[in-house]
Amino acid sequence: MTFILDNFIRGMGMKIIFTDSYDQMSRRAANIISAQIILHPQTVLGLATGTTPIGTYQQLINWYEKGDLDFSQVITFNLDEYYGLSGEHPQSYRYFMDTYLFNQININKKNIHIPNGMTSDIDAECAGYDQAIEDAGGIDLQLLGIGRNGHIGFNEPGSSYEKLTHLVTLTENTIQANARLFAKKEEVPTKALTMGMKSIMHAKRILLIANGPAKIQILNQALYGSITPEVPASILQLHPDLTVIASQK
Ligand code: PGA
Repeated sequence: MTFILDNFIRGMGMKIIFTDSYDQMSRRAANIISAQIILHPQTVLGLATGTTPIGTYQQLINWYEKGDLDFSQVITFNLDEYYGLSGEHPQSYRYFMDTYLFNQININKKNIHIPNGMTSDIDAECAGYDQAIEDAGGIDLQLLGIGRNGHIGFNEPGSSYEKLTHLVTLTENTIQANARLFAKKEEVPTKALTMGMKSIMHAKRILLIANGPAKIQILNQALYGSITPEVPASILQLHPDLTVIASQK
């Protein structure tokens, strides 16, 4: 069963959809993204990596294959990339996006933006990324996952809400969580380039997806607790157009 709970107390623009399974969560999220693309073929999407969005991307691919979706004019900006990994590295977010979405749809590769983890000029890379978002007219719909410590993108607890794209040092918690994807924990990069909380809050619409019981506690804290940099996602309570889709199982 799926039900919708409008939260009129905190953010007037917060809509929370609980689902009973990962598949339902993925389908609901893909529905919203696909409606955005159908209504606005030149839409600017903010995209996320992690295990949570894989099902959403697969659903979008399915609809593309059926001929129901056209990505030819869509522009994308990914949230983040490991610093020090090239796009060919299997654990880079560029590689992830190519594998789970871009190589399977008709997106124009020129319209794909992911921070360059191999940049030799971090400041120029970050400023250029922010400028590219602005030049595209801003992000229309930003897809987000949430870390168990409340991080959004790679904005870890304690991050300033004032930052645009910048270099961050990952917390031990995040390195541990990501170590499962690398052969050895020592191989997990310790730094990343990420859109900042300010970049994320500038998106016109935000779609946050969270899967399973492991995320329920942090989700409650983020959506109903105090708004504090210690829980980066809590700032989303102030966003005027936030949809949360959470699978409880
Ligand atoms: P996950 O990561 O989708 O792999 O749980 C989400 C995140 O850390 O933002």
